[in-house]
Amino acid sequence: MTAQPAGKPRAEAAPGIVTFDFAALSPRERYKLLIGAVVPRPIALVTTVDAQGRVNAAPFSFFNCLSADPAILALGVEYRPTGAQKDTGRNVRETLAFTVNIVSDALVEGMNICAVPFEPGTDELAEAGLTAQPGVKVPCPWIGEAPAAFECRHHTTLGIGNSREIILGEVVYAHFRADTVNAGNLHVDPAALDAVGRMGGHGYATTRDYFDLPTMPVATWRADPEAANRRR
Ligand SMILES: Cc1cc2nc3c(=O)[nH]c(=O)nc-3n(C[C@H](O)[C@H](O)[C@H](O)COP(=O)(O)O)c2cc1C
Repeated sequence: MTAQPAGKPRAEAAPGIVTFDFAALSPRERYKLLIGAVVPRPIALVTTVDAQGRVNAAPFSFFNCLSADPAILALGVEYRPTGAQKDTGRNVRETLAFTVNIVSDALVEGMNICAVPFEPGTDELAEAGLTAQPGVKVPCPWIGEAPAAFECRHHTTLGIGNSREIILGEVVYAHFRADTVNAGNLHVDPAALDAVGRMGGHGYATTRDYFDLPTMPVATWRADPEAANRRR
C-alpha cells in the first residue's frame, strides 16, 4: 500500500485506525476507497438497443439486486469525461429497457471486450463473438453464453449529480441455463452459475470459495453460540 496523501487521514484517528472525511476527498479518492472496500461487487453485462435497434453491451459493477417485490435491479452509470452519456445510459433513456446478463468465469473475456470504449453504434457482442438471443419482453437481446439473464423495463432513473445516474429496472423475464437452476424448487446452483465479482482496481474474484451459514433463531444462538460460525 502506498502512503495516504498528507492531511487526508484525520489526525484524531484512534491508534491503528485511518479515517477519512469524505467531504475532503476528491471524487477519484472516494472512488478508490469505495470500490476497494465494497467488494466483491456483482457484475452486470448489460445489453441494450438504441432507437434504431442497434445492439450494445457493456459491464457495470455499480450493480446489484435491491428488491424482489417489485424485482428491482440497479445500475450506476457514469457519464463520459466529456459529460456525454455512455451508450448504455442513452439507450435505456431511448428505449426504456435493458437486460442484465450475469458474468460467469467463462464470460470474463467477452465481458472485458465489451468494456472497450468503442464508438457509439458498435455491436460489442459481435466484437466479442457472443451470441445475441432475442429478448422476449424487451427489445434488448440476452447473451446466449450467460448463465442467467434478466430482462428489465425501466422503473426509475435517479439523477444523483453531474457525473452519473442510477438506473432502476424491474425484472419482467428471466433466462437461466438449465444446469444453473432447479425449475422445481427454484434453487440456483452457485457452482454452475460460477459468477465472477469485481474487486478494487482491475481486480476480480470468483465465487468458488463458497460456504453455507444459516441465520440462527435466538434460541440457537443462546444454546449453541458456536453455530454462529459453523460453516459447511
Ligand atoms: C468489470 C467492469 C465494471 C464496470 N462498471 C462500471 C460501472 O458500474 N459504471 C460505469 O459507468 N462504467 C463501468 N465500467 C466501464 C464501462 O463498462 C465502460 O465505460 C463501457 O465502455 C461503457 O460502454 P457503453 O458506452 O457501451 O455503455 C465497468 C467496466 C468493467 C470492466
